[in-house]
Amino acid sequence: MRSNQKVLILGGAGFFGQNFVRWLLKNGRKEITVVDSLDPLFQSKKEDFGAIYDDIRFIQGDIRDEKLLASVVPNTDIIFNLAGQTSHPNSLKDPISDAGVNVIGILKVLLAVKDLNPNAIVAFSSSSTLVGKALSEVIDENHAERPLDIYSAHKGIAEKYHRIFSNSYGLKTRVIRFANLYGPYGKADSAFGFANHFINKAINGEKLTVFGDGAQIRNMLFVEDACEALWAATDSQLPEGEPFFAAHEEHLSVKEIAWTIAEIFGTCAQTIPWPEDRKKIEISHQKISSEKFRALTGWRPKYSLAEGLLLTKKAMNANLKSLD
Ligand SMILES: NC(=O)c1ccc[n+]([C@@H]2O[C@H](COP(=O)([O-])OP(=O)(O)OC[C@H]3O[C@@H](n4cnc5c(N)ncnc54)[C@H](O)[C@@H]3O)[C@@H](O)[C@H]2O)c1
Repeated sequence: MRSNQKVLILGGAGFFGQNFVRWLLKNGRKEITVVDSLDPLFQSKKEDFGAIYDDIRFIQGDIRDEKLLASVVPNTDIIFNLAGQTSHPNSLKDPISDAGVNVIGILKVLLAVKDLNPNAIVAFSSSSTLVGKALSEVIDENHAERPLDIYSAHKGIAEKYHRIFSNSYGLKTRVIRFANLYGPYGKADSAFGFANHFINKAINGEKLTVFGDGAQIRNMLFVEDACEALWAATDSQLPEGEPFFAAHEEHLSVKEIAWTIAEIFGTCAQTIPWPEDRKKIEISHQKISSEKFRALTGWRPKYSLAEGLLLTKKAMNANLKSLD
């Protein structure tokens, strides 16, 4: 890992951010600034930083605040933009708010980088869901974008901004598409995705409920593997502004995933009929290929689902103990 580089993490109090900050500290990174709005709607908590709070510079603020951006963007080498409204169903309930953060917010960050620090690397965390229902057996970067919800549509717009700012202004932008990340500090609320919702239910001994028959295929990625991918995106010679998938090669049905979580955490699972609002935005089968990203960066996930879940359980139990 390159030393002496200053890192800025936008949205760093969220699930991915909490894990990424820890991963950076574990890998010897010292100068880390985190910005997060801590808007209660997004359910992130400053307290989740625990003991590492003293090892970072935390600023509570909004990525749409140009004054704030002017104070943090110039003095940094790498900007990881993980800030966003991240609930698919909530994006349909309030599309204007989603656009405020996931479109205007992203644009403001890119404008600040262009004007104040054009040599910084900007890594953006996008989502595989922007492809919508798969048109082919395996999805790669050539797949069409046919998003089914507003959040996913806005990810597509934000990706294009990164491409345009790279092409027109020479910004060093990197775009990585993730799918179904899981691990410690995940949100319990099902509106933020099924993987961490299941894990949080399971650790409390509650039964897991799978919508429909659970046959739809997903790629699950342990958050530590996602941290490595995010870092690899800045370290390598990736073409700027181009989107890349970083997913696991394990293709598993939602039912297999739920039953594995239930087994590891010692609970049980059942299938229930689809709620109408969720069925409409269900992307069905997604088998993602990350061959392109792997070939360029050498990144490979280290953990199978079972291994990632065991590490998640260990970390969550340790966190629970520290609260006793
Ligand atoms: N978790 C996944 O499975 C997954 C999959 C694909 C992509 N992603 C992307 O990765 C990024 C991080 O996701 P996550 O799972 O940690 O989500 P999260 O909701 O836990 O974290 C997002 C953080 O952004 C903050 N935020 C929201 N609006 C903000 C604003 N205007 N200014 C500053 N901070 C703001 C929130 O408070 C929250 O802490 C997001 O861009 C998400 O779309 C996540």
